[in-house]
Amino acid sequence: MDNIQKALFAKEVKQGLRANPKTLSSKWFYDEIGDQLFVKIMNMPEYYLTDAEFEIFSTKSAELIEAFGVKDQYFELIELGAGDGTKTIELLKALRFHDFAYRPIDISINAIENLEARVKREVPEVKVKGAQGEYFTALSSLKSNHPKVILFMGSNLGNMLDDQANSFLKALAEVMNAGDKLLLGLDLIKAEELVLPAYNDAQGYTAAFNLNLLTRMNNELGANFEVDSFDHKPKYDYDKGLALSFLESKKKQTVQIEYLNESFDFEAGEKIFMEVSRKYDDSSIKAISDNTDLKLTNRIYDSKHWFTDLIFEKQ
Ligand code: AVI
Repeated sequence: MDNIQKALFAKEVKQGLRANPKTLSSKWFYDEIGDQLFVKIMNMPEYYLTDAEFEIFSTKSAELIEAFGVKDQYFELIELGAGDGTKTIELLKALRFHDFAYRPIDISINAIENLEARVKREVPEVKVKGAQGEYFTALSSLKSNHPKVILFMGSNLGNMLDDQANSFLKALAEVMNAGDKLLLGLDLIKAEELVLPAYNDAQGYTAAFNLNLLTRMNNELGANFEVDSFDHKPKYDYDKGLALSFLESKKKQTVQIEYLNESFDFEAGEKIFMEVSRKYDDSSIKAISDNTDLKLTNRIYDSKHWFTDLIFEKQ
């Protein structure tokens, strides 16, 4: 992490731990250990989201391509937060004889390099060139007049509250030209028996994923969190469609953060709000896409209707 990132991290940590109730942002989960834990989460049986979207990409790629409306014209397929590309490779295989270039964007240079190598190996017909960076910086560097299809998969948008998600989609629409498409993968509201285990797995990966942010603050900001004195406490509100993760302090304690030169008190049982993972229905889909210049044109589902890939067209 460079100094600018570190200062931003520290500033957000201070704001979050001074707030009432305390909060930390899940966008900081993804250091090297966090990336590895997230891969484990995606591969565990309880985390149905990956399997559901993989099923869409592997069995309904023709429907997706039809919805992109690209026909014989050259286009750019841009993926935000590409990760390891397992699902996208299925789409690339189906697109291999179309005229297009694949442009994955990821904050991690490692992820980009591995993905470029994987695409060259598994789908050598496809032109691939990744970009490392924050979504909007990388997107503006890719500005061109070619038609674009932007992929934002994995219910990544669900880690934002609806207002933030709406602002994000507005900003995304602004870098798109009329006729460009957005594929947005979203997890749908379903029963607690299905959702909660995905965020409270038997192996403890999700707990480790949340607790790793305390370790990260210890390593990068000189904090002295006793990681064992916090418990991972997820909950799911079916009516609101919100899966929420918290860390709960097991005892009354004070934590010092050297970089901030400050200390933070925790009561026994006090919670830190760590992450929202939104599950959607028609009204929340409307709330996030309202006033965005994006028109919903297609909805594609997995066979269980647990997950959807929505296609929007920029007006
Ligand atoms: C990346 N994001 C969509 C995941 C989710 O389901 O909210 C992150 C995650 N958090 C806990 N498990 C997975």
